[in-house]
Amino acid sequence: MKGDINPSDKELHLDSSRLAAYPLKVGDADELFVLLNDAALHEFVGGSPIGSVEDMRTRFTTLEERKSPARSELWLNWVLRRKQDGRAVGTLQTTVREMEGQMAWVIATRYQGQGYAKEAARMLARWLLTHLKLTVLVAHVHPDHHASARVAAAAGLSRTEQIVEGEVVWRLDRRNHSMKTPTENS
Ligand SMILES: CC(C)(COP(=O)(O)OP(=O)(O)OC[C@H]1O[C@@H](n2cnc3c(N)ncnc32)[C@H](O)[C@@H]1OP(=O)(O)O)[C@@H](O)C(=O)NCCC(=O)NCCS
Repeated sequence: MKGDINPSDKELHLDSSRLAAYPLKVGDADELFVLLNDAALHEFVGGSPIGSVEDMRTRFTTLEERKSPARSELWLNWVLRRKQDGRAVGTLQTTVREMEGQMAWVIATRYQGQGYAKEAARMLARWLLTHLKLTVLVAHVHPDHHASARVAAAAGLSRTEQIVEGEVVWRLDRRNHSMKTPTENS
């Protein structure tokens, strides 16, 4: 079961042409708080920003464990950094249950509209399929969130008819033989 595996920091270092993703650490909290303390990022995903840098450090400390409290799921979180200057531009997240990974992406408002989410989601999907060898990738996307739908499609996921808590389920199933692993530019 995938919840039993624990990828190393080195394995969790992902790379694309403009971006690098590193496993999220408590030391990232101060930098990410400035970027993520933004109600606009919650327009389609609900909830509200973490209200203080202390709370963000506490949250990241929990996430550094990379496991759900029951230890049955892998909780993988990354900080996304621009290679050109090392600045954080957003985060990636995947919850792994059995052979399925549920993906989510956030790009800070000031860095949106430059194709970073599509590039990051492709990088993540490739890694989940080839390195963790997952069978199914899913993303839950609000029906009006057109940008996130484009990101899911760029990562190779297809829209389904399934709705979970008001969000459309996007899915890639590698048992479907017509599926292609996303490449950097596909
Ligand atoms: C969704 C999100 C990650 C997109 O980040 P981004 O880096 O701006 O996305 P990209 O630049 O890679 O663009 C993705 C696509 O969305 C389109 N797009 C970007 N902003 C858009 C908008 N406001 N309305 C419609 N389409 C938009 C882009 O044109 C691109 O489409 P294309 O494939 O046709 O070129 C970002 O808006 C975000 O972090 N939102 C808040 C968090 C969130 O909702 N995450 C989704 C959870 S699943």
